[in-house]
Order: sequence, then C-alpha cells, then structure tokens
Amino acid sequence: MSGAVPKIRVRGLKKAFGDKIVLDGVDLDVMPGTSMVVIGGSGTGKSVLLKCILGLIEPDEGSIEIDGADLLHMDGKAQTAARARIGMLFQNGALFDSIPVWENVSFALLAQRRVARAGAREKAGEVLGQVGLSPSVGDLSPSELSGGMQKRVGLARAIAAQPEILFFDEPTTGLDPIMGAVIDGLIVDCVKKLGSTAVAITHDMASASRIGDRAAMLHRGKIIWSGPADKLLDSGNDVVDQFTHGRREGPIQMELRR
Ligand SMILES: Nc1ncnc2c1ncn2[C@@H]1O[C@H](COP(=O)(O)OP(=O)(O)O)[C@@H](O)[C@H]1O
Ligand SMILES: [Mg+2]
Repeated sequence: MSGAVPKIRVRGLKKAFGDKIVLDGVDLDVMPGTSMVVIGGSGTGKSVLLKCILGLIEPDEGSIEIDGADLLHMDGKAQTAARARIGMLFQNGALFDSIPVWENVSFALLAQRRVARAGAREKAGEVLGQVGLSPSVGDLSPSELSGGMQKRVGLARAIAAQPEILFFDEPTTGLDPIMGAVIDGLIVDCVKKLGSTAVAITHDMASASRIGDRAAMLHRGKIIWSGPADKLLDSGNDVVDQFTHGRREGPIQMELRR
C-alpha cells in the first residue's frame, strides 16, 4: 500500500436509534479523486452513514477523517468549513419548494457568501446549463418539475459550490432506466470535471458499475465487502452475490427467516 491519505476515512462508526443498532462499527476509506459506491438493503443505514459524515446525524462512537483531519474532534468552525467542502444530492431531491429553482441551486454559494445575491441568479443559470437544463428553468418552482428534472436540479445544487467531495444518495431511484443512465452520465461528468471524490449510494447495479471505481457493501451495520466496482457481480462473497444478483435464496433470506 502507498502512504496516500484517504480523502475520507471512517473507523468504527457506530449509531443506534434507541435499542436499534444501525451502524455497528463501519470502516471505510475513500481515496482522493475516486468514486465509491455503497450498496446494501433498504434500511441498512446507508443514508445514516452519509448523514453522519455530513454532520446531520451525530454518531455514538468512531472516527471520521477528511484529509486526515478528525472531523468529530475539531472545533465547530473548522467542522463547518470541512463540511462546506461536501456537496450532497439527497435521496428525495430535498429541494425547497417555497423558493425558485435558481435559489435552490445557489443556496450553498449564498450561505457561504461566495456569491452576491445579485450575481446568484446568473451563476445558477450557468450551473443549470452544466446539468443540461435551460437557465429559464431557474424561475420555476421545484414542484413544477418532472422527477428527472428535479434530480438534475438537485445535482446542480450539489455541484454549484464546486465541492471537493460529492455524495449521491440513490441518484437514480424512481427514474426510468434511460433517465437513470442520463443522470449517471451527468454525475460521472461532474465528478470528473471537478476532480471530486465521490460516494454514491445505490441498489441499482447498472448505476453502480457506471459511477463507481470501488464498491462496498453495508450489511448488519458493517462493511462486509469492498472491492473494485466491476467485481460486484463476481465478488466471491455470498452476501454480496445474493444482493447484486437479486436472488431470493441465500444468506440474507436465511436471516429474515430466523
Ligand atoms: N433520525 C432517525 N431517527 C430514528 N431512526 C432513524 C433515523 N434515521 C434513520 N433511522 C433508522 O435507521 C435505519 C437505517 O436508515 P437509512 O440509513 O435511512 O437506511 P437506508 O440504508 O435505506 O438508507 C432505519 O431503520 C431507519 O428507520
Ligand atoms: Mg437511504
């Protein structure tokens, strides 16, 4: 192994809600400039993992390092600065319906005072162009958009501040296969153009192989396998194999029966 410092390094991350243990010691490394796909069944804690890194959920135990700096033990200001380097495409878009699309897109830039309000509308138009939307879409309300357009706007919002790290939570869920491929293509283009490090959650295997360099599977609170994304269908791990091939029979089903 080289001595390179991971962009994101998670160790022993634990999170329970009441007596429900969701994350039970997650270890994950994401190297700079690479894309990691995280797979796992519904409700296994994939979104919780990203939200812990983003600071939206407070973990019970463990460490999270960004560029080798311990995120959970730095002061509040440094924490905010570190997290401002992350852009996120939320699972359900999570756009604000009460403000127009352009304001959604320039939200982080305005919040970080990296653009004046007067210039924000134009900047949003530029970013909308990068995800294949016309600048005039900026004047619409998110509720007026189709699912595919909402994903594009969510993506535009995530990349607007040109973050070093991008998180994508189920970017293609709810889209038809063609629109899914279009969104994946946009994601790959954006990540490449920014040179960002990316983590994408998905249970769409086509999407996983398009987006990911590496892949990891979260199962029963732990990362039970990680490897090259192109090995997902041929991992040599029974649990991963059952999941990626969508088999009814296998170790995961046996757990449900118990
Ligand atoms: N804020 C919360 N409060 C209580 N339980 C939560 C909260 N967020 C997530 N959970 C629970 O944690 C588990 C994992 O959720 P999640 O990470 O959203 O799953 P997924 O892998 O489908 O993204 C689920 O059982 C969910 O109900
Ligand atoms: Mg989720």
